[in-house]
Amino acid sequence: MTSIANTRNLKKIKIETELEVFESVSNLPEDIQELMNKAHEARKNAYAPYSHFKVGAAISLANGETVIGNNQENAAFPSGLCAERVAVFHAGAQYPGVQLTAIALTAGSTQHETVVPIPPCGACRQSLAEYEVNQSSSIPVYFMGETGKVVKAQSIKDLLPLIFDSSYL
Ligand code: THU
Repeated sequence: MTSIANTRNLKKIKIETELEVFESVSNLPEDIQELMNKAHEARKNAYAPYSHFKVGAAISLANGETVIGNNQENAAFPSGLCAERVAVFHAGAQYPGVQLTAIALTAGSTQHETVVPIPPCGACRQSLAEYEVNQSSSIPVYFMGETGKVVKAQSIKDLLPLIFDSSYL
């Protein structure tokens, strides 16, 4: 009976996300091209001897600074950290309270060419969301493989709907 009652009262929530796709880096606004180039530079220094998958991140800040990150792996696998979190925690550590204005990400295997856009993992989305919620302005995320198309999400919320944040605590 309960399940029938529940079925009768069923309401649905539809979640829609719109992402923009750029054909290549050269189609991005100039400042984002520069940011993506910094992500590519950062990717070169990733420490990924186990996965052979290198990720670079660059975050622009409202004070004009840019912070970078890359994935740092560890022989004790879970002790490593993704590029996005290295970058965003660096921003939080060095420039606390300064707004993040955009994030550029590039990722790919060292063993084959990666041409598809690689989105940030769930844990990184959650970590980035903390900063977006705190600064109450959206942080656009641009992500790509090594080459090829670049996808833009206008907000972390577009990549992680139903965000868990401190308002629930
Ligand atoms: N990685 C990132 O740096 N960011 C992501 O969003 C996904 C995965 C790293 C973690 C690990 O070093 C390697 O890529 C393979 O998972």
